[in-house]
Amino acid sequence: MFTEKIKEATLQYHQQTEKILIGKMKSMRSKQDYIDLLAAFYGYFGGLEQQIERYINASNLADYNDRRKTAAIADDIKVLGGDIPQKATGTQLPEIDNYLQAFGALYVIEGSTLGGKIISKMIQQHLHIDNGAGLSFFNSYGGQTEQMWNSFKEILNDVAMTPEDEVIITDAANQTFLKFKNWLEK
Ligand code: HEM
Repeated sequence: MFTEKIKEATLQYHQQTEKILIGKMKSMRSKQDYIDLLAAFYGYFGGLEQQIERYINASNLADYNDRRKTAAIADDIKVLGGDIPQKATGTQLPEIDNYLQAFGALYVIEGSTLGGKIISKMIQQHLHIDNGAGLSFFNSYGGQTEQMWNSFKEILNDVAMTPEDEVIITDAANQTFLKFKNWLEK
């Protein structure tokens, strides 16, 4: 299955991204630190979704609108009293010039929902956050997370029809991780 191969091929970058985020969460001391983290996600995922939506939307991926993340991140920032930052542009983002590259980037965004649960728990432990306010992005699909991930993987396996397609999607996913790592470190 292609989804097994892409998991393996992106593992190193996933681990690096995870490490940076765990560091950020461990050093989180205030609501402002959390707002800053949300702002980093907003800027990158927000810019990325704009690029992805040139090729993927509700007309070719039925539940795409449920998979959009930018508005939820903006809501969390607003609930916590923060300002909405600029979105990433140009070379801050991976190259997304076709449908396959868009799927590679979407793989990274959708996969982040799996770590989101863990991130959400860590944030609640580090900060005193009332009634989950400001946690909607990291709580993401809640109890539906596994189902949403499994249905995404099925679609991704169908999208990658040839070995060449697989290379394009995998390269785009790795670029998406790498540019996010750079964005978080800046
Ligand atoms: C503290 C941060 C994070 C933790 C602890 C974490 C943890 C996890 C866990 C537990 C899984 C599930 C592995 C499995 O069930 O096989 C996963 C999968 C994944 N995560 Fe993360 N994650 C984090 C951050 C991120 C971020 C920020 C992204 C994207 C920007 C991301 C992208 C992915 C992807 C693409 C997968 C799917 C791997 C596959 O193909 O099965 N993760 N992560």
